[in-house]
Amino acid sequence: MGATVTVMMTGAAREFITPLSLQVASQNAVHTSLFQDPLAHIALPAQADVLVIAPATANTIAKLANGIADDILSTVFLAYQGPVVIAPSMNWKMYEHPVVQENLRKLLSLGVMQIGPDCGPLACGEEGKGRLAAVQDIVDAVIAALSPKDLKGQKIVVTAGPTREYMDPVRFISNRSSGKMGFSLAKIARNRGAEVALISGPTALRPPQGVVFRQAHTSDQMFRAVEEESEKGADALIMAAAVADFKPVRQSGVKLEKRGVSTIAVDNTVDIISSISSWKKRPFIIGFAAETGSNIEKAKAKMSGKNMDMIVFNDVTEKDAGFETDTNRVVILDKIGSTSTELMSKDEIACIILDRYMKIKT
Ligand SMILES: Cc1cc2nc3c(=O)[nH]c(=O)nc-3n(C[C@H](O)[C@H](O)[C@H](O)COP(=O)(O)O)c2cc1C
Repeated sequence: MGATVTVMMTGAAREFITPLSLQVASQNAVHTSLFQDPLAHIALPAQADVLVIAPATANTIAKLANGIADDILSTVFLAYQGPVVIAPSMNWKMYEHPVVQENLRKLLSLGVMQIGPDCGPLACGEEGKGRLAAVQDIVDAVIAALSPKDLKGQKIVVTAGPTREYMDPVRFISNRSSGKMGFSLAKIARNRGAEVALISGPTALRPPQGVVFRQAHTSDQMFRAVEEESEKGADALIMAAAVADFKPVRQSGVKLEKRGVSTIAVDNTVDIISSISSWKKRPFIIGFAAETGSNIEKAKAKMSGKNMDMIVFNDVTEKDAGFETDTNRVVILDKIGSTSTELMSKDEIACIILDRYMKIKT
């Protein structure tokens, strides 16, 4: 990602791993003592954009919460005025201890951001809540800490993934949507300070922390969830889900026999966007048009036909764009015009969509 990283190590950390390893990994000098460079505890905080304490032990958390400054890390914490991210990691009984919980509450009330711990097997052989958060989640938390909070005060509902339209308890009509675009939108909107509800069809993705996450398997379930979340005063509804267009007319309560079916009669599913866009007091609506071929006119017609405020068009036949990929190339159409993007990550596309939303809103 290109960040310059300066590592500080406590004495206990050096029992587990050598400064040399982290010097090589960070390609930077490692600070291990308050007295090695007498001005480091003032110079380091002045240069840093973010302070990340990962793993954060119960001992260090206690020191930070109580203003103890007896090593390079705890002293730099006191001299630092920017965003701080801590990733606690310890045995689950230690984590649950009221003293640790009180210290964490105190740090959070002072604006420190906490990521994790996760549940699962612990180094001590026990199982519980205490595992260091996944590295990607820590990186995401750091990016969130560094993001400008220009969406603060905004309530945004995002849908993601496919829906499944069942013909019997085991078979369904669905599509190739992975949910990646919607999850990126939810994560970036959260990073930028929005209150986010993410409503998702079945995907293999882990929801970002700090968003309200609801699962909706069928188009009808998704419709109900979108109505409920939008009724809570949503400012924007971003329909990145690929809601199936068809559903079987009949849904059998039991598994259909192999030879019992020769045709499947289908109905159109509920049109979620048209329903919400007909509300008197409605959120700003951003839809998606995944087409085969560069059919922009069709996307324009879809935007006006469903009374959307913005539509994000992409050609799913293009290499590395559309379904299942980590990248996309889109054309955004709205009331102020249109903009086309290069092939870029779905996180970057999400930023551009949200920038454009804010430009129109303000
Ligand atoms: C093998 C071993 C593993 C430990 N693991 C943890 C841990 O995961 N989390 C924790 O809070 N303390 C753990 N401790 C205890 C800390 O090392 C101890 O509290 C130390 O004083 C922390 O110092 P620091 O906060 O300056 O790094 C462990 C101790 C040992 C001996």
